[in-house]
Amino acid sequence: MKVIVIDQIEKQVYTKEEILNSVILGDALKVLKKFPSEIFDMVFIDPPYFLQLPKKELRRWKVKTIVQGVDDDWDKFSSFEEYDNFIRDLLHEIKRVMKPNATIWVIATYHSIFRIGKIMQDLGYWILNDIIWVKTNPMPNWLGVGFTNATETLIWAVKDRGKCLDISFV
Ligand SMILES: C[S@@+](CC[C@H](N)C(=O)[O-])C[C@H]1O[C@@H](n2cnc3c(N)ncnc32)[C@H](O)[C@@H]1O
Repeated sequence: MKVIVIDQIEKQVYTKEEILNSVILGDALKVLKKFPSEIFDMVFIDPPYFLQLPKKELRRWKVKTIVQGVDDDWDKFSSFEEYDNFIRDLLHEIKRVMKPNATIWVIATYHSIFRIGKIMQDLGYWILNDIIWVKTNPMPNWLGVGFTNATETLIWAVKDRGKCLDISFV
């Protein structure tokens, strides 16, 4: 049975049993620190994009309707440095909770996937593949001054290079 838990400051540690089949709602940077090490077989993250949309109103090419891009606080960072620090802290803590032969999937758009890939390599993750999600129904071309943004990239990686040899492909 799935249990939904709202993380509380007073809660210091989650046991493996509390984590299994649970959804824990909270700040990932804080919640992950309360998890035991090496407990997950697979991790999937879809982190903030840091889209940096222009402050002025964006109107679509030809039809001129207003673009409603992601404008939430969780996607706001003061600089690439702040964004990189967030991603680094997140991936650092994730690495700790991954089992030695666990894999990780990270999805992002061109706005951030290249930075994320570099940070992963710097942290010692070993990238196995990049997988391109080709969207069959992408957001239409907004301004008509570039190409339609119709893909996202997934990085599939292991914790470290040595361990990728332990993964057997049948
Ligand atoms: C790119 S969106 C992913 C959306 C998700 N895949 C979905 O389909 O709903 C990034 C998500 O990360 C969440 N988020 C941002 N910062 C977070 C943090 N520190 N801890 C936990 N979640 C966070 C945001 O609330 C947002 O839902």
